[in-house]
Amino acid sequence: MKPRKMRDGVHWLGAVDWNRRLFDSLIPLPDGTSYNAYLVEGSEKTALIDAVDPLLLDMLQRQLAHVKRLDYVIVQHVEQDHAGGIPWVLEKYPDAKLLCSPMAKDLVVTHLHVSEERIQTVADGETLSLGNKTLTFVHTPWVHWPETMSTYLAEDRVLFSCDFLGSHIASSALYSGTDPRVLEAAKRYYAEIMMPFRTMVRRNLKKIRELDFDLIAPSHGTIHDHPELILNAYEDWASDRVSNSVVIPYISMHGSTELMVNHLVAALAERDVRAHKFELTTTDTGKLAMALVDAATIVIGSPTVYVGAHPLVYSAAYLANTLKPKAKYAAIIGSYGWSTKVVEQITGLIPNLKVEMLGTVLCKGLPREATLAELDALADAIQAKHTELPA
Ligand code: FEO
Repeated sequence: MKPRKMRDGVHWLGAVDWNRRLFDSLIPLPDGTSYNAYLVEGSEKTALIDAVDPLLLDMLQRQLAHVKRLDYVIVQHVEQDHAGGIPWVLEKYPDAKLLCSPMAKDLVVTHLHVSEERIQTVADGETLSLGNKTLTFVHTPWVHWPETMSTYLAEDRVLFSCDFLGSHIASSALYSGTDPRVLEAAKRYYAEIMMPFRTMVRRNLKKIRELDFDLIAPSHGTIHDHPELILNAYEDWASDRVSNSVVIPYISMHGSTELMVNHLVAALAERDVRAHKFELTTTDTGKLAMALVDAATIVIGSPTVYVGAHPLVYSAAYLANTLKPKAKYAAIIGSYGWSTKVVEQITGLIPNLKVEMLGTVLCKGLPREATLAELDALADAIQAKHTELPA
């Protein structure tokens, strides 16, 4: 794709990666992604903001073929999908200075092997004149690495936000418009990448709210030309508000745990509590992460493998602990063969979840009426807690 004009002297560069299906060898990308770079040409100086993943560096190389001079290369974030192409850019433009946050300097040296002499750090709020355009560097740490920053172009009312407010979506459209698929992809991205840093997300949202912009240009996905949509969505996702819903990641080996999960889902439905089942051999991890964004309760369902949790449940519990969703309540259910330590094991895996345990329902073998009654009681307890939630 050729450079695309956003404003006079401001162009999108980069690569749309339609075919990528996995990120970090972990995160599913059902809609592909893009690696966005931006070229800002002032009357006196020119700056490139970020680069692309080395996988598609040839696209950036073609876009820069006719750009004779770069004065500044701004690295907002050092992760490879944006900064991996930076060494090539610095080689092509030997006089260009690399600008980054102080926290990023060591990461640029260690991850990209750039010599320290090429690097100039920029303070929070520092400005850089390109002549008739002025860039202001806005430190936005922990969205999602400690060194991340955004860049504000006042004259054109554009905020370049890097990963923050981005989405893994491949599109031939330059702008998000009001396409609901973009918000869906942005929620998935938030859930997988930003959710562990909810407090910092809120702090950074407040900080960028003080700026006056019409466009938010992230480093993944389309450019937000209705900024309120993504800002409001982020403010909701990162808030303390939880919904009247229960997420149930589970495995069943011979059907008993499945019976228990199904009974609980039906019991919750009868009590007007929404339940989301995630059978872990077939679950899209991103869908599970999205459901965790605002669920009030997590119920983990596991059979017992020897005396421990099923490894896929173990993995899901570890992931949930890493993502630190804002759920307030939890429970553990499952069937076992002759003995089990599932509860002790899973409880030990989720110390980051600040949840009140609402109980456990374990069943030796195939569930009988007594177990189903215990599940009804669990549904009662969940409903009672959800009723107390602020509107
Ligand atoms: Fe898109 Fe954290 O890199």
